[in-house]
Amino acid sequence: MIIAIDGPAASGKGTLGKRLAEHYGFAHLDTGLLYRAVARVLMDRDVPLADRDAATQVAQNLDVSHLEDDSRLRGAAMGEAASVISAYQPVRDALLAFQRQFGEQPPGAVLDGRDIGTVVCPSADVKLFITAAPEERARRRHLELLRRGEQAEYETILDEIRRRDERDMNRSTAPLKAAADAVTLDTTHLDADAAFQAALRIVEDKG
Ligand code: C5P
Repeated sequence: MIIAIDGPAASGKGTLGKRLAEHYGFAHLDTGLLYRAVARVLMDRDVPLADRDAATQVAQNLDVSHLEDDSRLRGAAMGEAASVISAYQPVRDALLAFQRQFGEQPPGAVLDGRDIGTVVCPSADVKLFITAAPEERARRRHLELLRRGEQAEYETILDEIRRRDERDMNRSTAPLKAAADAVTLDTTHLDADAAFQAALRIVEDKG
């Protein structure tokens, strides 16, 4: 059983994916971490993000273990950099096999990202497309950063979210969009628990 979750930055799809996976005893992959990890290696080596070939090589040789434990991957700078290198088709190709294999594991898997329902797992049993208004996503991200003790300006975060939406939706390779057979869940007016309950109902109906 595969549950595919897609949606824009800070829509809550990661939290939702994690909770659904825990609920069903499935494995969970936050695929954004793969792109973030590629960006991180380039940045650590002072290689410009514009270097497609270098990004591709890094993606082909990426160590995918322990991504979950790396808190540096979760920062805003890495998200921004990930959205640059994720527009390169060869980078996406290099990360595809791992994601597909991950989806195959019994008894099931939850994958979240931008192109799970459209490209990575087009025949997923359930496809969710999670959205929320940019202002609400910025508000949540802002709170999360403050809670972690990081400095953050709401307006800056909102700008970043808008920029990332624009880039992720308008790129020619695997743009962010709902699969034709995805169920859209708008969480603008839902807290994390309500969003989880709503997602659970959709999975139970479809799965
Ligand atoms: O979801 P997250 O914010 O961690 O993703 C970081 C960036 O990686 C996104 O803005 C997007 O450009 C890219 N990404 C992608 N395809 C995925 C997951 C993430 O292109 N499946």
